[in-house]
Amino acid sequence: MVTVSAPGKLMLMGEHAVVYGEPCLVTAVNQRLSVTIDASDNGQITIDAPQVKETKFVDRAIVKFFAEKGSFLKNRGIALAIHSDFDCRVGFGSSSAVSVATLKALSLYYNLTLTDREIFNLAYQVTLDIQGIGSGFDIAAATYGGTLFFTKGGATIAPLRVSVPLVVGYTGIKADTPTLIRQVEKLHKTYPDKVNRIFAAIGKLVREGKEALLRQDWERLGKLMDFDQEYLRDLGVSTQKLEDLISAAKRAGAYGAKLSGAGGGDCMIALATSDKQKVIRKAIKDAGGEVIDVSTRAAGVRVDPS
Ligand code: MEV
Repeated sequence: MVTVSAPGKLMLMGEHAVVYGEPCLVTAVNQRLSVTIDASDNGQITIDAPQVKETKFVDRAIVKFFAEKGSFLKNRGIALAIHSDFDCRVGFGSSSAVSVATLKALSLYYNLTLTDREIFNLAYQVTLDIQGIGSGFDIAAATYGGTLFFTKGGATIAPLRVSVPLVVGYTGIKADTPTLIRQVEKLHKTYPDKVNRIFAAIGKLVREGKEALLRQDWERLGKLMDFDQEYLRDLGVSTQKLEDLISAAKRAGAYGAKLSGAGGGDCMIALATSDKQKVIRKAIKDAGGEVIDVSTRAAGVRVDPS
């Protein structure tokens, strides 16, 4: 029997533009999703995942694993059990965490080696097979953990050894990432010049954000996050609820605040040192958000005690 867990993630800066080749900043969070594999006596592959809405990412990861490592392994039955610390609706990347944890657990269960890069590549293929689009930043966070400067497909995966002091507010609304990516794609097709300028501007903010992050210059990073949010608004992916939570956090003293992920719902993040977090948490709750406690720069996929 083997149990493996992978972290959830939060996008710090650069969402959407990262799909078009610009860099982004992402951090892994300490809420994890685990996959346990044990022998099964009925010779079948079974999946027990009561918290996961659908198992298509697990199914696809299993198919990819056997295609890569040899279908001869399949003649032994296995039972997979999946457990998540976080609700799959909050946008912490349950699909990527489950793909990564499944691949790692399968490789260990069969005593085969899959490097982190191989896990990243296979799990990214799983995302592309199912969603058809995506940068893979969430797969990188689940695989490598930490805080990363990332470009599409893992062309750059650079660890930045910095934790980020955040307050996270959930809007209560589940966003559909592929739909939002398509919405931005449509805007890009209709107004290519304007939208390309927005993507380039976001990319510039991310590069500056990386430097500010490394210096732990929260004042500057906060400002850059605010500017990023303005561009995300222009791309049409913010919502009234996100804006309400963002304004509340800013009024309560956050250095900066923005949506995190595809937009349309899910979570917002507010950058704030611990002395300010209590008031900001209250402000987010008063504005109708649900505060989710996380710490950042969590470990990537790893074996857990079974
Ligand atoms: C979604 O969480 C972030 C996007 O940039 C999509 C992606 O990078 O795969 C919108």
